[in-house]
Amino acid sequence: MTAPPVEQIDAVSGVEDPVVRVSNLTLRFGGVTSLADVSLAVQRGEILAVIGPNGAGKTSLFNCLTGVYVGESGTIAFLPTPGESVELAGRKPHRITQFGVARTFQNIRLFNALTAIENVKIGVESRQHTGPIGAMLRLPRTRREDRASDTRAAELLEFVGLHAQGNRLAAALSYGEQRRLEIARALATQPALLLLDEPAAGTNPAEKTDLERLIRRINVEMGLSVLLIEHDMRLVMSVAARVAVLNFGRLIAAGTPAEVQRNPAVIEAYLGVAEVEGGEPDAAPG
Ligand SMILES: Nc1ncnc2c1ncn2[C@@H]1O[C@H](COP(=O)(O)OP(=O)(O)O)[C@@H](O)[C@H]1O
Ligand SMILES: [Mg+2]
Repeated sequence: MTAPPVEQIDAVSGVEDPVVRVSNLTLRFGGVTSLADVSLAVQRGEILAVIGPNGAGKTSLFNCLTGVYVGESGTIAFLPTPGESVELAGRKPHRITQFGVARTFQNIRLFNALTAIENVKIGVESRQHTGPIGAMLRLPRTRREDRASDTRAAELLEFVGLHAQGNRLAAALSYGEQRRLEIARALATQPALLLLDEPAAGTNPAEKTDLERLIRRINVEMGLSVLLIEHDMRLVMSVAARVAVLNFGRLIAAGTPAEVQRNPAVIEAYLGVAEVEGGEPDAAPG
């Protein structure tokens, strides 16, 4: 089976203004092909969902987009603004953050011994100029940046609904709150593209509804393009106009949620897996 060409996917939305374009990306671990010649583009301003059974390569795609893994072939063009293109493949994760790609993790990664606001400040500071020497000498710019970082972190906590939790340790927050805190930290890096890896995994129905609203606000109010890995089809259908489907590292379908749900290749991929509805946090690496 060969993956549909990039054009076929873009034809769904009819627009041609990608914020990121992945072309022919292949990633292997020994005998396992995690990504096989994957091509897809996220259009500027859209929410594109990526679905697929466990082990399909979804997190691997995020790891390639953020410089954690380097594919053996393929390119990843990131266009933070129209006409400005940088190649992400082969870049270090911190550089990719500075270019404007931010992510959350399938398994929450927060600094548990730091407070909520301190976690968000780490995101803000990844964009600031102060190095360790500046911080040590408390240079005027350092003090300015520190105040700016407090303000921005507080605004972002407010945005994700955690304004009252700023001084609590990350470890003391509920699971749903930790998921939102991770999103705030990602937003703090001022991304043009936000990658969310199963943000609803393990959350309860009320938290899912909050999350759905939050993802929409990130897209509409902040104007961010979002690539969303999610098993919960109700959430996917409510926020994403387009869905790309991975199976065994291959892109097997792309289209509107309704189109992919009745695509025979997609149904076959999920047969016996029965997780296209609901969804468990998966145990695969990453
Ligand atoms: N660091 C790694 N080392 C070895 N195999 C890996 C690694 N990361 C991912 N894989 C393999 O790549 C495949 C895709 O994994 P992953 O991207 O985590 O899938 P998904 O997120 O869709 O569940 C799986 O077979 C997984 O075991
Ligand atoms: Mg995964």
